Amino acid sequence: MRIHVADHPLVAHKLTVLRDTTTDSPTFRRLTDELVTLLAYEATRDVRTEPVAVQTPVASARGVKLAAPKPVVVPILRAGLGMLEGMVRLLPTAEVGFLGMVRDEHTLKASTYAQRIPENLSGRQCYVLDPMLATGGTLADAVSFLVDRGADHITAVCLLAAPEGLANLERRLASVDVPVTIVTAAVDEHLNDHGFIVPGLGDAGDRLYG
Ligand code: PRP
Repeated sequence: MRIHVADHPLVAHKLTVLRDTTTDSPTFRRLTDELVTLLAYEATRDVRTEPVAVQTPVASARGVKLAAPKPVVVPILRAGLGMLEGMVRLLPTAEVGFLGMVRDEHTLKASTYAQRIPENLSGRQCYVLDPMLATGGTLADAVSFLVDRGADHITAVCLLAAPEGLANLERRLASVDVPVTIVTAAVDEHLNDHGFIVPGLGDAGDRLYG
């Protein structure tokens, strides 16, 4: 598993405003969208392309286009939905699949309540969107689900990750034979007893949609 922390002043600035408890929902949504577009630029560094020829007004040139089959973007409902537009702005031709998952407040275990994902993901690159990687349980289940369907390259885009969650994810995915990359705006200090990232930004789902 590879972890990429996006080290950029604009990422840091937008994340700072997201953390601010006085930031209202409309601003939080807009900034999430902007931040995800910056993260998407990093996350798509390995997107597969194929060569094409293009005619400029002056001469012919060599270029690239996205390779088939199309990548699949998978927001994890509900909070991941707030990241979808920012991602597909850079990957407008991607297919979008949905995973509805929720974490039990007491056990901190994730469960899946809905899925609408292509049955066969063989040869597909998948981009999972989930703002918070806390215990890592949600993402571990989501990655396993996509690998079981044949995905052969998975990148998760997060706003924040906790060190404990990254370690847990690494353990849970140790036997997964598919490259997995986590792209995040920051790795925070720790998880508290309620499974919240500290200092974090609160409950992303509530701040987006509550
Ligand atoms: C939050 C968050 C992640 C998950 C992370 O979702 O958006 O999906 O918890 O926790 P984990 O890493 O400990 O598994 P939540 O269950 O609150 O659902 P929501 O997106 O519908 O608010």
